[in-house]
Amino acid sequence: MSDIKIDIKNALPEGLSSEINVDGAKALEILQSKSGAGNDFLGWLELPNEYSEADIADIEAAAASFKDCEYVVCIGIGGSYLGAKAVVEALSDSFAAFKVSAAPRILFAGQNIGEDYLFELQELLAGSKFGIIVISKSGTTTEPAIAFRLLKAQLEAQVGKAEAAKLIVAITDARRGALRQLATEEGYRTFVIADNVGGRFSVLSPVGLLPIAVAGFDIRALLKGASDMAVKTLADSAENPALTYAKARNALYRQGKKIEILVNYNPKLHFLAEWWKQLYGESEGKEHKGIFPASVDNSTDLHSMGQWIQDGERSIFETVITVEEQRHSLRIPSDDANLDGLNYIADRRIDEVNKMAELGTRIAHIDGGVPNLKISLPRIDEYNLGALLYFFEKGCGISGYMLGVNPFNQPGVEDYKRNMFALLRKPGYEAESEAIAKKL
Ligand code: PA5
Repeated sequence: MSDIKIDIKNALPEGLSSEINVDGAKALEILQSKSGAGNDFLGWLELPNEYSEADIADIEAAAASFKDCEYVVCIGIGGSYLGAKAVVEALSDSFAAFKVSAAPRILFAGQNIGEDYLFELQELLAGSKFGIIVISKSGTTTEPAIAFRLLKAQLEAQVGKAEAAKLIVAITDARRGALRQLATEEGYRTFVIADNVGGRFSVLSPVGLLPIAVAGFDIRALLKGASDMAVKTLADSAENPALTYAKARNALYRQGKKIEILVNYNPKLHFLAEWWKQLYGESEGKEHKGIFPASVDNSTDLHSMGQWIQDGERSIFETVITVEEQRHSLRIPSDDANLDGLNYIADRRIDEVNKMAELGTRIAHIDGGVPNLKISLPRIDEYNLGALLYFFEKGCGISGYMLGVNPFNQPGVEDYKRNMFALLRKPGYEAESEAIAKKL
């Protein structure tokens, strides 16, 4: 069973106020009985146990088909990008890009339309053996479509059309969208994103599993962690960490804490926070409601955002992810001259110092009026990350229902797309093009 723990004793100034219990159990029940808004997008609840041995073996086989590639470019945006990026970054050596690697190097594209980014990526890939995993649930998103058009053409030019088709895997809807049609016509290997799994809840589907497996990580352990967390988050009890998290953050929101800062003290978790921001931001930011999800990487950000958090407007609370056990052990050397004055911590683990930075900061922030939640992750490995991902997803579903929104749609994302298409004069957007021209 997963040992991820949540500690909320410093979350609410008066301890567990009665407010913390408002609606939590009801929201959990609505989510699990699939009776709430967006209930046609709850397939993620079962994803950890959805795949048969044959399904997993199929994903692993697809991953192995890239084994001779130096690079595999994962093309996607939002939920079709951030989950894989978060897990691969968390599990990878911090300097993997500069070290010899048995597995292909995972690169990402389609998450931006940076001309220099794409140019430099193409430069890197020129002459190298590379593969492509193109991911889009709708199959029509512009940013990944542009990146795929560029890299598909490059791959075909480098290895020929037939060989390129063997080095491309598409993950998309079973029937709909331009990517499905393209994949069928070009004969690509494909995986399906189920209709009932929304993008930002898709990390435990092939969307996340395939890139993570290509990077050389154990997707079975990831799913096992998620599966154990699914069991742990079923009951209406104080032992349900997702329910506790959802209750605490909603109680804080009601007390005027409008911004949640996810804090880490381990740079490997930077993209986990980016994934979390999308999950909570896109799920809850609706009808002019919702906690704004922000994040900091400490100690780095203690020297940039620390002043604001300590002393700025008191509209924030923090959720600190603490990693109990590190992968490696490193001690501070002693130095006879002690010119830097550090001998008082000589022979101590680096992590012990980091933990004191964490504890000292938490106490300072709590004293400064920043409510503080703590999530303890035993270590960064596949099993615990799987559990953490599911914990956050379940907490998000409960929290969204407590807030009174549909956590599973994203109507606001369409507005920028409509304007962009109007500005680019996409066929079918003539009226919008005319209307937007008047605003320029
Ligand atoms: O969570 C979501 O649904 C979105 O963030 C999508 O993942 C994102 O917009 C990408 O969409 P698609 O996979 O259809 O290209």
